[in-house]
Amino acid sequence: MQAQTFKVRVDALREEARGVRSFSISRLDGLPFDAYEPGAHIDVTGPSGITRQYSLCGDPACRDSHVFAVKKEEQSRGGSRSLHDEVGIGSELSIGAPRNLFRLEEGASEHILIGAGIGITPLLSMAYRLVAIDAPFTLHYFARSEAHAAFLPLLARAPFAQHVKLHFGVERDVLTDALDACLCDADGNAHVYTCGPAPFMDAVVDTAQKRLPAGAIHLERFKAEPQAPTDTSLDTFDVQLASTGQTVRVDASTSIVDALASIGIEVDTSCGEGVCGTCMVDVVSGEPEHRDHCLSKAERASNSVICCCVSRSRSPVLVLDL
Ligand code: FES
Repeated sequence: MQAQTFKVRVDALREEARGVRSFSISRLDGLPFDAYEPGAHIDVTGPSGITRQYSLCGDPACRDSHVFAVKKEEQSRGGSRSLHDEVGIGSELSIGAPRNLFRLEEGASEHILIGAGIGITPLLSMAYRLVAIDAPFTLHYFARSEAHAAFLPLLARAPFAQHVKLHFGVERDVLTDALDACLCDADGNAHVYTCGPAPFMDAVVDTAQKRLPAGAIHLERFKAEPQAPTDTSLDTFDVQLASTGQTVRVDASTSIVDALASIGIEVDTSCGEGVCGTCMVDVVSGEPEHRDHCLSKAERASNSVICCCVSRSRSPVLVLDL
């Protein structure tokens, strides 16, 4: 099962903040991109051959180009470093179709977007959409300093300026107070969206949960924090294909994806860390042990889907819709 990919050309590059560069791309075949939902991300494969996920941060209504931004990670295993060092205007990249696990709830009475650092990117595409539908929203942007804040000239102009509140140099010990202030006027039907480093998002969720139901709080992770096995983890279990009844054993050192590959069943993957949702498969029966970071609470509770790259099983047999 191979995901759809497109060859694209880099048309423009911009330094958006210290260590953050944006890439504006168009399709090599000259066709427009399909429309995408705000909050969506794409797989990007650069010259290194490494594929990483980046949020689209342009106007979702613009079909001629896509924009994504990349922070050059010091600990880069090659993905972000290659995009910064080896890609120029005219370079060709390969991208996947947009996928969205971070959706706007357009029926909310107001939208509170809270981003930190490079976490501004999915919130920016949401801001374009919220302006377009004239929905009430505030975009709170936290950064270490002005130099570390991306897209500032854009955020300082109409139509965004009146919605944007900047928070520079907020230290950890006063972050909760600052977040409290962002959320203190939220009404009961508001929705909160956050993206940024994991401890920052944890603080946003903790603060928002005091005022809003869990279903009104949305977050997007870029990196997985390792999840420890639970008491009910099984070292070994079987995965069965609903279509043929064929079964394969999954042992402690093997992922479901790898076990399925060993019998010739390819499940498409991208991040391999449980953050992107590419490897999601419907569960027909059995109880998954969810170790991903991308399913919603409702999806977890229903046990109707599983991310096969990292998740496992609590029941001896897991039947998948394959
Ligand atoms: S491949 Fe990204 S969640 Fe499994």
